[in-house]
Amino acid sequence: MKEMKLNFFEENDMKKDKERIEKLRADLLKYNQYYYTNNESLISDVEYDMLMNELKELEEKYPEYKSEASPTVIVGASNLRENKFQKVTHKKPMLSLSNTYNEEEIGDFIDRIKRLLPEREDIKYALELKLDGLSISIQYEKGKLVRGVTRGDGAIGEDVTENIMEIETIPHTLKEPLDMEIRGEIVLPISKFESLNERRMEAGEEVFANPRNAASGTLRQIDASIIKERGLDCYFYFIVDAKNYGIQTHSESIKYLESLGIKTTGVCEVLDTASALKKRIDYWEQEKEKLDYETDGMVIKVDNLDLWDELGNTTKSPRWAIAYKFPAKQVTTTLLGITWQVGRTGKVTPVAELEEVALSGSKVKRASLHNFHEIERKDIRIGDKVFIEKAAEIIPQVVKSIKEFRDGSEKMIAEPDKCPVCGSPVAREEGQVDIKCTNPVCPGKVKGRIEYFVSRDAMNIGGFGSKMVEKMLELSFIKNVGDIYDLKDHKEDLENIEKMGKRSVENLLDSIEASKKRDYSKVIYALGIPFIGKYSGKLLAEASRNIDNLMKMEIEELIEIDGIGDKGAKAVYDFLRDEENIELINILKGHGLQFAMEEKEEEDQSEKIFSGKTFLFTGTLKNFKREEIKEEIEKLGGKNLSAVSKNLDYLIIGEKAGSKLKKAQELGTVKILTEEEFVEICKNNNKN
Ligand code: IVH
Repeated sequence: MKEMKLNFFEENDMKKDKERIEKLRADLLKYNQYYYTNNESLISDVEYDMLMNELKELEEKYPEYKSEASPTVIVGASNLRENKFQKVTHKKPMLSLSNTYNEEEIGDFIDRIKRLLPEREDIKYALELKLDGLSISIQYEKGKLVRGVTRGDGAIGEDVTENIMEIETIPHTLKEPLDMEIRGEIVLPISKFESLNERRMEAGEEVFANPRNAASGTLRQIDASIIKERGLDCYFYFIVDAKNYGIQTHSESIKYLESLGIKTTGVCEVLDTASALKKRIDYWEQEKEKLDYETDGMVIKVDNLDLWDELGNTTKSPRWAIAYKFPAKQVTTTLLGITWQVGRTGKVTPVAELEEVALSGSKVKRASLHNFHEIERKDIRIGDKVFIEKAAEIIPQVVKSIKEFRDGSEKMIAEPDKCPVCGSPVAREEGQVDIKCTNPVCPGKVKGRIEYFVSRDAMNIGGFGSKMVEKMLELSFIKNVGDIYDLKDHKEDLENIEKMGKRSVENLLDSIEASKKRDYSKVIYALGIPFIGKYSGKLLAEASRNIDNLMKMEIEELIEIDGIGDKGAKAVYDFLRDEENIELINILKGHGLQFAMEEKEEEDQSEKIFSGKTFLFTGTLKNFKREEIKEEIEKLGGKNLSAVSKNLDYLIIGEKAGSKLKKAQELGTVKILTEEEFVEICKNNNKN
């Protein structure tokens, strides 16, 4: 047959297939390269696996086109990123796992194992969580941590020893003096990811798309101290050549790791049938929502290590394990239209109006589209079928449109040239993607500012939802934020508002009164200064102690505050020099809002060594975490400042102290303490 001359159609098909193979290889290599360097996927896992399977099938059909350089043969990207870290060849390659997306295939996996091992009757399987992070291999010599290497392309990784030394949950010493190589997954806990992104947003920096990217970005930091600060974590699931330690099953190796002081997820269930595995997978699919780290599926491993040897590996993955991927939290729906919203800063943003659909336990009708640039980039049109998903954040996002479903009736979306609320012209600041309404008194902006001011993280005024704000603006009961505190003079008018009974008016007014006690830091946040969120509100409050000081601070002083970025500093400076804002602050002061830090009782503090003194620390500290040293200072009666200024008494310096030390020396009034001197003082005064 093979010798037969091919007819025209066959030749044409073959040519097309060859082109397809080349295209698939090029695309998959590009995706691999991107994934291993940026730790971010250009396409979904499902799409990736579909393309990979298509390539495998074509290569099987045309063995003559096989190539050692095909992504079906090589594990990952051939070129690793920059030469920031030394390259290291893994003693044993770090393989991948083959993936399955439906539970039926778990049965197929078990049948395959049984087929390959017909003599065995009682094969057991270990079920584990599949962590969504970065794999790492750690070597111990005589129980001492000597090296940490990333997975890289599976054969060659990067030496990140210095950085993994800063991950607090990876022990530097094992409980036994063993030579051992172990493998696990580095993750950034979800709670740490959220606070990191919050801080980045407030500092005007780009946020990480998900905890995995954040973990990857953090591990690759040149400055290793950032790793401890951000709280990277690591869970282990593998001992290289475990049988050398007298271990017979995978589940035993997990217990052994734990006995050596190594962290595991604690989840390793031994089961023996496909139905038992599926049951537990369903359980963990629900339960995983309670965990503080991301899991994207479960891993099923044959438990008996002797069988691992019998089953062996393919070039890419072991035959004794399979990963079951949880269904993505994505659904498809139809984009019905776009509503353009105006926020407190005048930013005009698109909101996707969707055909209602259930997603992760709630009904979704609206989703975020960020800005017009994103609509263009994703080529999203009204009438499109779109994928939506809930990422780590709560607000659903439009991921992409599905072009294959288009029938020509879809409508292109145009960027508005007028404000959708007041009709004034819109403008784009240089270098910015967003457009803004140019009308300083646009009702959309005013509404946004009020909503922000009363929101839970700001003044926390209950009973003041979006509809209520709208109503009050409509009835001219309020025209700006300051008017909220005059509402008590309109009690009767309020009671006449439709659906507002006496009781709810009373609750609202009580809530307004109670907000006058909200902390100074919350008031700063509520003012709505660009780039200043909850976290930076706190930093500004601590650094300034009161609004008068804050209003006097120069940009340079604001930049000096740890955690306040250049953009935030400039925004604060500009905001506090604007006539209207100054007037608002004065009105709010008149209403009795908190514009100063509540100073703690000083009586018993006066006895203490640091009483009445102010402190700041800088550089890398050996003995304390950031919060610990702050607590220590307060315990001894001192106050923490966030910046070097004339108000600072002592600067405590750790290793590599930089600009703060220089500034303190220039000022000449600040006393410098080394960390050791500070520790000595603490020792002598902490005897009780
Ligand atoms: S075992 C030879 N167990 O998933 C097999 N891997 O898609 C070694 N992963 O590269 C891996 N959780 O980074 C194993 N419980 C777990 C895992 C796990 C997450 C990662 C690992 C691996 C990738 C494969």
